[in-house]
Amino acid sequence: MTPEQFVAGLPKAELHMHLEGSIEPDLFLRLARRNGVDIRWSTEAELRAAYSFDDLQDFLNLYYDGCRVLVQSQDFHDVTREYLHRAHADRVLHAEMFLGVQGHTTRGVAPATIMDGVLGAMDEALAEDGISSGLIVVAQRHRSEAEALELLDSLAPWYDRLMGFGLGGAEVGHPPRKFAEFFRRCRALGFKVVAHAGEEGPAGYVREAVELLQVQRVDHGNACVDDAALVAELAQSRIPLTMCPLSNLRLHVVPSVAAHPLKRLLDAGLCVTVNSDDPSYFGGYVNDNYLACQVALGLERADLVRLARNSFEAAFISEERRAFALRAIDAWSAEAEAEVQGAARAEAT
Ligand code: HPA
Ligand code: ZN
Repeated sequence: MTPEQFVAGLPKAELHMHLEGSIEPDLFLRLARRNGVDIRWSTEAELRAAYSFDDLQDFLNLYYDGCRVLVQSQDFHDVTREYLHRAHADRVLHAEMFLGVQGHTTRGVAPATIMDGVLGAMDEALAEDGISSGLIVVAQRHRSEAEALELLDSLAPWYDRLMGFGLGGAEVGHPPRKFAEFFRRCRALGFKVVAHAGEEGPAGYVREAVELLQVQRVDHGNACVDDAALVAELAQSRIPLTMCPLSNLRLHVVPSVAAHPLKRLLDAGLCVTVNSDDPSYFGGYVNDNYLACQVALGLERADLVRLARNSFEAAFISEERRAFALRAIDAWSAEAEAEVQGAARAEAT
């Protein structure tokens, strides 16, 4: 069994992806046409050629502009359904998806338009493919905390359908502490909380996210490597890092996947997970990210299994569902092992 085949069949959870970052060029063009939205590109090739970025802000400029093609409920439905189809094909059993509601409401799209479309597609994917999913609304950190609090209030009708809240967007200059009250309110309401930290920002932002915002997971978290005490604390607490190697490569957070800290942190005992972030922009879905790490970091099959197990340890799911997923990983590992043994026997005879 090749690494590609092993990764393809490995049951996994994806915990760090932005729905708006999963609009493939063909869907992007269809949505622009459907809604009569003026865009700069007319072919898929032109769009793909535009996906070359200097840094996070350079990417965010294009990403926020791209959101303009999402107007009607059906658009939000289609983006969500297409991502969940694609994730199911990668043997993702469970996905937790980020939704940047402010990027839409500030353009005049009503929360109900967004939520009806996304939630309907999530229900459909569960019924049709058996893939479970959760929704995490991210506040944009370049906006004020007051706006984040307004966002929280505006979603009250959907609280029972939301898993939690997070923090995304331009990191440097917008430290976690700017959103301390927002996170306190989210936690008081019983939501799971996560935050992007240590992608372009320093280790201090990761520490602040953990200690002040009391996040249950850190999104990215790369910069923690600059603080040995923090690395030891994260290993001890098992607060997961949702890492995104191909995103980090495309936004120049790392010079190469070989230089990515994922394997070092995994070996240090942290609950590291592999995710796609914005798959259509960064050239890869979750399996592409696993494989890029396998090749560049020389991951063994046992490392791939650890990453998949971590994804379910880190997921906001019931203990029952976690146990089911871990058994599915064990079954797949046993199948791969039996194939290795069978091949060895065939060679010996
Ligand atoms: N970082 C911060 N915000 C984001 C990202 C990211 O990688 N992708 C979409 N929003
Ligand atoms: Zn992200």
